[in-house]
Amino acid sequence: MNSPLGILVPMQEEVELLVSMVEQPEMMQWSSRSFYKGFLNGKRVVVAQSGIGKVASSFTASLLIQHFRVGAILVTGVAGGISDHIHVGDLAIATQAVQHDMDCFPLFPKYMIPHSGITFYEPDTKLTETLNKAASSFLQYEFQQVVSEDMLSALGIHKPTIHSGLLVSGDQFIGTENQLNEIQKGLPDSLFVEMEGAAVAQVCHDAGVPWCSIRTISDKANAKAHLDFNLFLNQAGKIYTSAVARKFVEML
Ligand code: ADE
Repeated sequence: MNSPLGILVPMQEEVELLVSMVEQPEMMQWSSRSFYKGFLNGKRVVVAQSGIGKVASSFTASLLIQHFRVGAILVTGVAGGISDHIHVGDLAIATQAVQHDMDCFPLFPKYMIPHSGITFYEPDTKLTETLNKAASSFLQYEFQQVVSEDMLSALGIHKPTIHSGLLVSGDQFIGTENQLNEIQKGLPDSLFVEMEGAAVAQVCHDAGVPWCSIRTISDKANAKAHLDFNLFLNQAGKIYTSAVARKFVEML
């Protein structure tokens, strides 16, 4: 890839270790956002904290595209696991992304982005294949070195696996059975939930920029999601995020 890769991570806790790994870093400010331009494993990157939610992350993605002319965007960080077979500590890769809170029915079908005809955004196939390889390599060769036994038992992680499927995003932290049921009822194939990916996907689609997304499962989007989320974020989130992103960049 000739142009730099943009990497978006929602929260401070998730982004800081990754930023510390950027070689020859140049910090640049556009509006209220900070961008870290430099190299990861010899490849050009621009890392930014996207902010939380669809509006914040769309704004950051637009700045990234406009000012840094990135050739592609990786959206990463943590997410809530929706399907029964996904667990805390697993990795989830998007094969499609939808905004679960978009609803202009009866003017447009539920979940469809008005006037676009699009409900499900598609990530770039080649980048997504590379994400799969990076995630496998991370779990096989690096995981045991960077995540301690103590951390695994504190977080209740057994043997992390990789899942691919539907990413659902919306401006809600999903932490009640009602919210979870609502998503599962309308979008039964949902695999994981967060608050940015499908919005960044829309920006990328409109700007003609390829995107892909991988997240680590921090919680099960249930009544104890807020507790699991905070524990995971503080202990393991940044380790996973930075290690997988580095591996991905190395394999590009
Ligand atoms: N990110 C991590 N966990 C989440 C959840 N339960 N809901 C929305 N975004 C999340």
